[in-house]
Amino acid sequence: MPENKPFPRNFKWGTATSSYQIEGAPTVGGKGPSVWDTFSHIEGKINNGDTGDTACDHYHLWRNDIELLKNLGVNAYRFSISWPRIFPTGKENEPNQIGLDFYSRLVDTLLENKITPFITLNHWDIPQGLEDSGGWPERDIVHEFVKYSYHVSKHLGDRVNNWVTHNEPWCVSYLGYIEGRKPPGLINKWPKSLATAHHLLLSHGMAIPEIRNNSKQSEVGITLNLNTAIPASGSTYDEDACRFYDGQFNRLYLNPLYKNEYPDDVFEYLKTKSLISESDLNFIKQSDLNIISTKTDFLGVNYYSRAVIRNEEIDEKKNLPRTVDMGPKTDFGWEIYPPGICDLLMRLKNEYKVQNIYITENGCSYGDAPSLEGKIEDNRRIEYHQSHLTELKRAMDDGAPCNGYFAWSLMDNFEWAQGFSQRFGLIWVDFETLERIPKDSYYWYKEYISENRLDED
Ligand code: FCB
Repeated sequence: MPENKPFPRNFKWGTATSSYQIEGAPTVGGKGPSVWDTFSHIEGKINNGDTGDTACDHYHLWRNDIELLKNLGVNAYRFSISWPRIFPTGKENEPNQIGLDFYSRLVDTLLENKITPFITLNHWDIPQGLEDSGGWPERDIVHEFVKYSYHVSKHLGDRVNNWVTHNEPWCVSYLGYIEGRKPPGLINKWPKSLATAHHLLLSHGMAIPEIRNNSKQSEVGITLNLNTAIPASGSTYDEDACRFYDGQFNRLYLNPLYKNEYPDDVFEYLKTKSLISESDLNFIKQSDLNIISTKTDFLGVNYYSRAVIRNEEIDEKKNLPRTVDMGPKTDFGWEIYPPGICDLLMRLKNEYKVQNIYITENGCSYGDAPSLEGKIEDNRRIEYHQSHLTELKRAMDDGAPCNGYFAWSLMDNFEWAQGFSQRFGLIWVDFETLERIPKDSYYWYKEYISENRLDED
């Protein structure tokens, strides 16, 4: 390998998935509807009218999928639990045993294959019953999440040592309540969006001691989608817009978790724009921040791209010309910018003093399809992962404390509002036949892992 220093011993090499994106079987085993079951069935919400009703049918094909993980040579796998499989409406007092048993078998089989399970408790598919009672903007949901975390960790905590409370709170808060591209599909509801962020963070903090108590060896953390933001030009318009972007995207989550404070400039900006009033922030109660900033064992980082911010509120003619050269884009339209993962990790180390990081997602969407011989030559995906791993390693050699990398995703799956049109997998899935075909990137990753994995103890 070209790298000078090897990846550390026991570095986690994995792939990631999430329940709604792969499982299917929405009513099997007593599962209740999730917000994604509801949302994906609303006309016009999902590209091509796709739904996760079948997705990859992982609920039935999971043994086959673990076999694919085993052959890939990973030593870790990040997946999420479908909350409504455990609490069909969210409000039951006792968990649904069939749901717990499904994940228990999955965990046992992973362990038999020497693959460490990393569980995400909330990867967005919350019970519709909780949404009907107001969802994340209402404080009551915090207790429901703690109850759910308690029962799952009680049941699996003897075997599972790595827990992610929430996946990407920003997506729930911003895409759900400002852009409306995710459930519940509301637009420009800033007070609800902020309350959502707050209750996600608060429930994370409150779940930590419950999980640790049930799972004594465990590491507990949260996964944020973070990036590096730079202004599109040197104009103060772009600089101000970039500061707000960084505030609402990165600092709104990092500051309460790591600095015991909210970024005031974000709230001030929203007040100046009359998007919130002071009393809209009453959801922040005394000592909430102390709970949110409970020390975690790791930060999960999902990195895909950087953000180049242009002030869109002023006339283009009044702004300075753009000065940032953009790199090529993936099929999703996200710019490929590998140095961003290094810049981000250095910021987390230096500014936030984060002591343990896992890259819980990194990957790209390309539509490369099987050739007549059934081969999938997704060289651009190989290039994407390779260049990001090189930049990740650069940050690690500079002292960034990273202990694992999870490629998104093990296989093509239901990509939320994009349906099946965007393929992030190392494995091709034929959504008609459910056949799985490893892509060239799967074989490349297998090779990369075998050259860099040093964990045989
Ligand atoms: C992330 C999500 C994940 C997947 C990737 C492409 O934001 O966590 O479920 O959709 O993007």
